[in-house]
Amino acid sequence: MATITKRLLLSDLVSTDKIDQVPSNYIRPITQRPNLQSVVRDSIPLIDLHNLFGPNRGQVIDQIGRACRDYGFFQVKNHSVPELTISNMMQTARDFFNLPEQERLKNYSDDPQKTTRLSTSFNIRTEKVANWRDYLRLHCYPIENFVHEWPTNPTSFRAHVAEYCTSVRGLAVQLIEAISESLGLEKEYIGRQLGKHAQHMALNYYPPCPQPDLTYGLPGHTDLNLITILLQDQVPGLQVLRNGHWVAVDPVPNTFIINIGDQIQVMSNDKYKSVLHRAVVNCDKERISIPTFYCPSPEAVIGPAPELVTDDEPAVYRQFTYGEYYEKFWNRGLATESCLDMFMAT
Ligand code: OGA
Ligand code: NI
Repeated sequence: MATITKRLLLSDLVSTDKIDQVPSNYIRPITQRPNLQSVVRDSIPLIDLHNLFGPNRGQVIDQIGRACRDYGFFQVKNHSVPELTISNMMQTARDFFNLPEQERLKNYSDDPQKTTRLSTSFNIRTEKVANWRDYLRLHCYPIENFVHEWPTNPTSFRAHVAEYCTSVRGLAVQLIEAISESLGLEKEYIGRQLGKHAQHMALNYYPPCPQPDLTYGLPGHTDLNLITILLQDQVPGLQVLRNGHWVAVDPVPNTFIINIGDQIQVMSNDKYKSVLHRAVVNCDKERISIPTFYCPSPEAVIGPAPELVTDDEPAVYRQFTYGEYYEKFWNRGLATESCLDMFMAT
């Protein structure tokens, strides 16, 4: 008698069972499908960080400010993260997702509160329709609190990921200072509000999909954290909403894609927007993306910066702890695109 094993991970369903149709639990209702033909080929600003620490810092800050206000997204080149650190990170992610199923499953958990875990879709405990993605999520700052939980296979995993997240944290801090300045705040303002600071990352694995028109890698959402620094491989898939149209952001080697998350939208009192974005999948190529989510620590109190609240522009949001926001975000299972409307000022 044939036994049917329910597979925990999508990658194993796709590679082992050789499916040629998207299973019904991944299919979106007709009105919510990605409509891949109508995507616009536009671009988001590409900012050269070479001058961030030179006499022309002001110009770079202006470019960052404009990009945050008008796009909520930008790319950076000539940043401080070495090419080798990036290529080692990407190779480590590829090697991890190529491990045998049993080896990967040692890290499996569907509990969003776990600080190191491999899972699938987004939050399988709360969502109605599944997403075409597996992911390994890691907390990575302060690194010594978490590194002992990380996978040890591939054997270089901890060393390469530690090097990558330490280096990307340096870039995150530079960008947060620049964003603070671009809002007319003290350079240290945002950093100070973050408590002890926190940093999470995801290794996203999107397998090839037989019917990419019916499903998403990730449906439209905003990121809950402060800023996201995304590394993607050479396979397109990220789309950003701009003026009501989905714009495909094609990969450029050795650049990062930066986006504003909900916490910057709150602190900036809506001057900067946390923009909707999504990941679509394709028929023939697997895709890996590695977002770093830079965040406040859970006890940090977040609210609009007092200097940006005036009689004409009253506080749009109330104060809350990041821990409270984080819990609401995971519990809604991406059923709503953003959580910000749960934190409005009354
Ligand atoms: C995310 C995300 C986009 C991508 O993980 O929050 O938006 O291209 N990822 O994988
Ligand atoms: Ni995102």
